[in-house]
This record gives sequence, C-alpha cells and structure tokens, in this order.
Amino acid sequence: MVLLKKLNPRKDVTKKYKKWMNDKEVHKFSAQKLKKHTLSTISKYVNSMNSSKNEILLGIFIKIDNKLSHIGNIKIGPINFFYKTAYISYFIGEKNLWKKGYGTQAIKEAIKIAKKKKIRKLKAGFVEINPGSKRVLEKNGFKKEGTLKSEEEHNKKRYNAYIYGKAL
Ligand SMILES: CC(C)(COP(=O)(O)OP(=O)(O)OC[C@H]1O[C@@H](n2cnc3c(N)ncnc32)[C@H](O)[C@@H]1OP(=O)(O)O)[C@@H](O)C(=O)NCCC(=O)NCCS
Repeated sequence: MVLLKKLNPRKDVTKKYKKWMNDKEVHKFSAQKLKKHTLSTISKYVNSMNSSKNEILLGIFIKIDNKLSHIGNIKIGPINFFYKTAYISYFIGEKNLWKKGYGTQAIKEAIKIAKKKKIRKLKAGFVEINPGSKRVLEKNGFKKEGTLKSEEEHNKKRYNAYIYGKAL
C-alpha cells in the first residue's frame, strides 16, 4: 500500500511538502521546527540527499484515486559502511493520515531497502513523549537499546530519549 521512492526535486517539492516542513506539530520533536523552509531550501536539501553517498532520502507515497500521492518522508542514514549500520528517521506530513498504518508500513519497506543495501542493523531515536514513534518501531521489531538521559528540551522541560535497534 505504501511505496517508497526517491524524490524528484522539481516534481515532488510542492507547496504541500513546504507546508509539512513548516508545520510545528509535524515537527514538534525535531529541530526542523526551528527553521523556515522554502521551496528553494527544500529543493536544495532533496538535491543534496540525492547525491549523498551515505544518506538515502525517500518519499512515502500512497495511491489516492489511482494516483500516487506524497504523504511524508523516510530517511535511511547516515549509513556507516564499515559496520553496516544506519539510522532511520521519518515523518508523515499529512496529519489527517496519522494512525492509519502508513508510518509502520514505511518502516517495513525501508527495512527491505536497507537489507538490499547490505545494511545489517538499523537504529532510530525518539524522545519519551513521542508514543507514535515508539509504536511504529516496536511494530517493526525494533527493541530498546539505550536511554539518553535528559537529552531533549520541550516546553522548558527536559526529557529522556531512547535509541531503538533492529538487527537485519
Ligand atoms: C510518528 C509517526 C511517524 C507515526 O506514523 P503513523 O502512520 O501515524 O503510525 P501508524 O498508523 O503506523 O501507527 C502505528 C501504531 O502507533 C500508534 N500511534 C501512532 N501515533 C500515535 C500517537 N501520537 N500516540 C499514541 N499512539 C500512536 C497507532 O495507534 C498504532 O498503534 P496500534 O497498531 O497498536 O493500534 C507520525 O505520527 C508522525 O509522522 N509524527 C510526526 C513526526 C515524528 O514524530 N516523527 C518521528 C520522529 S522520532
């Protein structure tokens, strides 16, 4: 149901994508919320990712009315080629599509791609007040490997972050 594919900096960098990037709720737990994103900064980012040797940026697409619709992104990287490990990070930009299984499916597809790239382990981090991120990882077999104490500040309060991992 979900398809992951590289983003085309001309066709896929749209007003909708810009709206997600400037949405304080979508990026509540990410440093992206501190930046002002424009079509130009996003295009530059997509271009830099598309030419990166150790990061794979993929758009999350679903079929709506038989047409592919971009709903969010998932990134595999940075990749450590020596240890064959990589981080993943992800967001569903369309908030009305949260809790419909797309985040879980996107990670499942990213695992398949990582395996093809001979990556042997994936890791992801999230702050303790982000239950959605915890759940999508758990549903894909990731397990807690570490706690980063007092790692992040949200609304003037400090929170722990967790690192989850999955050997492939
Ligand atoms: C986190 C995120 C990717 C989850 O994606 P999603 O498509 O909504 O997740 P799914 O529909 O696959 O949900 C999987 C499970 O998580 C649960 N879940 C999702 N969001 C949740 C939330 N905010 N609170 C509690 N549970 C949540 C779902 O209910 C579902 O549980 P179940 O299968 O046990 O019933 C999405 O909410 C998002 O993009 N958030 C903003 C960006 C973000 O936080 N990215 C991660 C940064 S570390």
